[in-house]
Amino acid sequence: MTDKLLIAGVIGDPIAHSRSPRLHGHWLQRYGINGHYVPLHVTRDTLHDTLRLLPELGFKGINVTIPHKETVLQIADIVTDRAALIGAANTLTFTANGRLQADNTDGSGFIDNVKQYTPDWSASEGPALVLGAGGAARAIVCTLLAEGCPQVFVVNRTRARADVLRHHFGARVMVMDWTRIPDLLDEVALLVNTTSLGMEGAQPLNINLDRLHPQTVVTDIVYTPLRTELLVAAEGVGCHVVDGLGMLLHQAAPGFERWFGRKPEVDEELRAAVLGG
Ligand code: ATR
Repeated sequence: MTDKLLIAGVIGDPIAHSRSPRLHGHWLQRYGINGHYVPLHVTRDTLHDTLRLLPELGFKGINVTIPHKETVLQIADIVTDRAALIGAANTLTFTANGRLQADNTDGSGFIDNVKQYTPDWSASEGPALVLGAGGAARAIVCTLLAEGCPQVFVVNRTRARADVLRHHFGARVMVMDWTRIPDLLDEVALLVNTTSLGMEGAQPLNINLDRLHPQTVVTDIVYTPLRTELLVAAEGVGCHVVDGLGMLLHQAAPGFERWFGRKPEVDEELRAAVLGG
C-alpha cells in the first residue's frame, strides 16, 4: 500500500445523485488503496478554472458528467481519437507533465457490458437497431461501427438528431422512422434503447416486439428500474437481455486504473455495492 494520497472525482451540475462516488469508493476500499473519490458541483462558469486548479490540488483525474461532456474537449490539451470521434469526454486525466487528457469510455463501457453477459456476441455479427440519438447514442453508435457492426439503424423521435449521426458517421448509419421499428426487429442482432423512455418517472417505451427474433441481444441503458419493460418483454420472447447498470460500471474502470493504479473488477460484489444503501 502506498502512503501517497491519491485523489480523483466527478464534476457535473447537478452532481448529488451521481453513483460514481459509491462505485469508486467500493473499489478503493476493496483494494486497500489510500485514495479518495469526491463529487464536485461545478457549473459552466467555473469549469475552466476548476480544471486548471484540480491538478494543483493533487487530483490525478476526474470524471465528467452533464452538462460538461462536450465543453471539456475545448479545454483539454490532448483528446483521444475516440473522444474526438464521439465529440464528448467522460474521463479526464492530468498527466505527469501537467497536461489535460480527455477520453471517452462510454462506448467501450457499453460494449464491455454486453460482452460480459453475452460472451459469444460480437458487433460484427449483424446489424444493430439503436433507439435514440442523444449523447449516449452517439457514443454507442460510434463504438459499434468501430467494432465492425455492418449497419446501425437509428430511430429517434426528433429525426434531425438522427440525421446528424448519419452525417457524422457515414453510410453504415441508416435513419429510420419510429413506425419502422417492427419491420427492423426481424433483421437485427442487437437492439438497444438509449432513450430515457422506460426510466422510473418517465413515459414507457411503447414498441411492438412481436417480431423480435429470439437470437437478438437486447439491452437498455436505463438502469432504474434494472429490469425495464423492454428487457422483461424481450426475455419473454426468449432473447438474451443485458441491463444498463453494467455500462455505468464498465465505463468507470479505465479511469480508476489510470488514477489509482489498479485494474478493478466489475462483478456482482460491485453491482450490489452500487445498488445498495
Ligand atoms: P443522453 O445523453 O442520455 O443520450 P439526451 O442527449 O438528452 O441524453 O438524449 C435523450 C434521448 O431520449 C433522445 O434520443 C431523446 O429524443 P429526442 O432527440 O427526440 O429528444 C429521447 N427521448 C427523451 N424523451 C423522449 C420521449 N418522451 N419520447 C421519445 N424519445 C424521447
